[in-house]
Amino acid sequence: MSAPAPPRKILVSNALPYANGALHLGHMVGFMQADIWVRFQKLRGHQVTFVGGDDQHGTPIMLSAAEKGLTPQQLIDQMESQHIESLRGFNIDLDSYVGTHARQNQQISTEIYLRLKQGGHIDVRTIEQSFDEEKGMFLPDRYVKGTCPKCKSPDQYGDNCEVCGSTYDSTELIDPYSVLSGKPPVMRESEHYFFKVSEFEQMLSDWRQSDALQPEIANKLTEWFEGGLLDWDISRDEPYWGFEIPDAPGKFFYVWLDAPIGYMASHKAHCELTGEDWESYWSTDASADTEVYHFIGKDIVRFHTLFWPALLYAARYRIPSGVFVHGFLTVDGAKMSKSRGTFIRASTYLEHLNPEYLRYYFAAKSGSGVVDMDMNLEDFSTRVNSDLVGKLVNIASRCAGFIGKRFNGELASQSDSPELQAAFEAAADSIAGRYERREFSQAMREIMALADQANQYIDERKPWQLIKHESKLDEVQQICTAGINGFRSLCIYLKPVLPALVAEAESFLNCGALSWEDLHRPLYGNKINKFKPLMIRIEPQSIANMIEDSKELPEADATQPDSLLAKDPLAGEISFDDFAKLDLRIAKIVAAQHVENADKLLQLTLDIGGETRNVFAGIKSAYNPEQLVGRLTVMVANLAPRKMRFGLSEGMVLAAGPGGSELFILGPDDGAKPGMRVK
Ligand code: MSP
Ligand code: ZN
Repeated sequence: MSAPAPPRKILVSNALPYANGALHLGHMVGFMQADIWVRFQKLRGHQVTFVGGDDQHGTPIMLSAAEKGLTPQQLIDQMESQHIESLRGFNIDLDSYVGTHARQNQQISTEIYLRLKQGGHIDVRTIEQSFDEEKGMFLPDRYVKGTCPKCKSPDQYGDNCEVCGSTYDSTELIDPYSVLSGKPPVMRESEHYFFKVSEFEQMLSDWRQSDALQPEIANKLTEWFEGGLLDWDISRDEPYWGFEIPDAPGKFFYVWLDAPIGYMASHKAHCELTGEDWESYWSTDASADTEVYHFIGKDIVRFHTLFWPALLYAARYRIPSGVFVHGFLTVDGAKMSKSRGTFIRASTYLEHLNPEYLRYYFAAKSGSGVVDMDMNLEDFSTRVNSDLVGKLVNIASRCAGFIGKRFNGELASQSDSPELQAAFEAAADSIAGRYERREFSQAMREIMALADQANQYIDERKPWQLIKHESKLDEVQQICTAGINGFRSLCIYLKPVLPALVAEAESFLNCGALSWEDLHRPLYGNKINKFKPLMIRIEPQSIANMIEDSKELPEADATQPDSLLAKDPLAGEISFDDFAKLDLRIAKIVAAQHVENADKLLQLTLDIGGETRNVFAGIKSAYNPEQLVGRLTVMVANLAPRKMRFGLSEGMVLAAGPGGSELFILGPDDGAKPGMRVK
């Protein structure tokens, strides 16, 4: 027999969530995938360090603190403790959670920058940017809005148009205004520091061809190469919340420079506490026997697969062994939505449901590719109830009663079915391979097939009948022993996914902490403890309550009258000129229909005298579509078109009332014709 391979030394990170909002279930996709992989590696005896932290710098955090009347430091401290609490709640087993504002990060970021500068990889250039004179600050693209240069839709962001989808520079907007002051920005010059990414094309091309990347990500890199590599602007002017650049007063590192360096810093903080050797993970000559992996979402690939490796390389640090990219979470087939209650915060979930349900569900839906994941709430409860309660826990509960009551808690000295034991052991390599390659859904499938096999075996052997015959007692004990060992093997296989359930199972089995090797060491003759139900079914009511608690009133939304009606009617006078801007028209409802997946909306086709408009109106609670067809109403015809999940809404109909069934669309007197102007 050959000596066992030495344990691998693995460092794993998950993307650092921004410190200006609560964690939601979308954030949990990456955390759970990383955590499952980490727990699997630890179960196999490897030495793993799992690091994370909050991403604490940048303009949005600075502004959001100011809005709340807090200092940025107060805001990031608050967010950090909230985030840590949610991560604990989901059993995310991080070894270190240290945010990017930490001393260690300032030190490493500064050092990396100085190495880049000494290496000649920093270029200083003067650029022109939008500047808000009233606020005295340069405006990131997202903080400039204006009319789309292509389709002329008003109120579009500085980087892309939500109506026609075109992308452009914020300087191309027509009638631009600052989101902060409402004033038109001026163009102002300033010196910026650029990291010369283009110097690392060869290195990046080798990286692209290494096995560090998923195939679809490698292809993305090829596209970027073909488009030409642009140098990367890594500085921002004050006022900015971040680290000041050495010897550059008033200049700060752009948040995305020090964000990934935060992985190194969080790891360093951990090493300071434990005495482990940080260098051995990060220096170039150590990369042979330590491994570094980053789990991230698909929206931040460029930062992690282009800028990050180039930066590490340029600063003479090792490059990552792998970047694992996951897709985005949708709920019931659509983007998470606050008004529908599907924008579910991690903390809200935890108030209503067991975290292990979601860990299992995400595992059952996760593959190694960059694929979006839908959480269908119906499917979620069916899947969890059937697999975990109906199959897994059921095996233990069917066998534990007999062992406890009839055999004084003792397992037999042998199994009734060596075949079953052999089948469970034989699956080990295949399941391990699935976990290793992050094919969690396949792993879950193989594990549940074993659970089916165990249940089938118990069905066939019918211990509940045999127990009636004194002569069959030994047999019953051996059958239940086979069942309990099957359950125990399933617990080993599922330990990365269901750490809390398995911890309870370990105390029931009275067997200490289970390791992967325990698969080959079944329990015979041992005494086990009294069985307590390990998991209850998901109640539909709990899901309904969670959704209800997640509902927030939509922001003022042209197509949701109840939110407009909720506004204070005495909020302020408008001038006659303001009033005159409204183009109110008599409209004939020529068609009306339900909108799939919309709780409040009906889709109306309106005729305003030779021109038809498509409008989504929030009046479903009060009207059936059939009641509306043929009627005349009043619409705002010059409201900016608004792109919604369901399509483009080109105006708004007027309605009155408190909402719900008491909502009344306005109609003209007899004689009015479609298209007439309301004066
Ligand atoms: N702060 C940056 C990451 C810096 S890493 C050095 C950031 N923060 S974030 O809060 O916006 O997102 C954190 C992680 O959550 C990212 O990996 C992001 O892709 C992921 N997700 C955010 N919303 C998500 C979904 N709806 N679905 C799945 N993942 C999502 O980006
Ligand atoms: Zn447009």
